[in-house]
Amino acid sequence: MSEKRMWLRGLEYGCPGAMTQVEFYTALWGLTEVARSNDAVFFRATGPEFYILALHERPWRGIVRINLGVADRAGVDALHASLSAKGVPILDAPRELTTPGGGYGFEFLDPDRRVFRLSADVARHADVADAPDRPRKPSHIVLNTVDMERMVAFLTDALGFKVSDWSEDVMTFLRCNADHHSIALVRADRNSVNHMAFEMPSIDAYMRGIGRMRTGGYPVNWGPGRHGPGNNPFAYYAGPSGFVIEYTAEVQQIDEATHQPQVWPRTPEKSDLWMTAGPPSRQMRTAMAGDPDPGWKG
Ligand SMILES: [Fe+2]
Repeated sequence: MSEKRMWLRGLEYGCPGAMTQVEFYTALWGLTEVARSNDAVFFRATGPEFYILALHERPWRGIVRINLGVADRAGVDALHASLSAKGVPILDAPRELTTPGGGYGFEFLDPDRRVFRLSADVARHADVADAPDRPRKPSHIVLNTVDMERMVAFLTDALGFKVSDWSEDVMTFLRCNADHHSIALVRADRNSVNHMAFEMPSIDAYMRGIGRMRTGGYPVNWGPGRHGPGNNPFAYYAGPSGFVIEYTAEVQQIDEATHQPQVWPRTPEKSDLWMTAGPPSRQMRTAMAGDPDPGWKG
């Protein structure tokens, strides 16, 4: 495969009451509704990605699909061939997609039975302009996993991710482009969604987002602070369904020629560089643990 660029398109999340959350995700969080069906609503940010978050009406809370972008159809076909050869469970052959924005892609299961989709040729928005207080793109998703080594091996061997850093033996940060991490894993007693982070175009936009949320009745649940690994500012919220969302900005850009992964200690001064946030509350830890993900059932 000549073109190896990959990126996180976004997350599709299932929860009860999905359709009632549109006001929160638009007026408060700063996304824009771009499409809806009978049981799902799709949101974009200010960047070109057609949608970065979808909420699906489901009786449980968890992942419906994780979307990764690749450069072109040949890249989709090449990954389909290589994943098939590795024995990865493939749900469908590459095909024209019927989700908003269309495109060409296929789905497969990770070792924890989450559904991933790799796609190319999804429509891109032309009206792209950073806003002073709204998310530009998905930054990263963090997944709780019962077998971190198995997930790290899968993401690196099968999808070509690279380890950027570790947080002791509790977290692994993985990149698929210059962003320090697009996926991070947390060693846990269940497979579930920990959180999704949205990239603000600047530190000022990050603070303005925090201000809009505060004015709207959502003070920060954890933050503001700045993480050690990735050097990114964070402000975490438990959203309407309990799904944890984060504003971030200024995520470290990796220089492949010089970067050396390191193990970060989980000390206050290394995990909260500004020393403004303190540790997460019990309520935030519970929200980040999520509900055990049902995984793909067929
Ligand atoms: Fe995060």
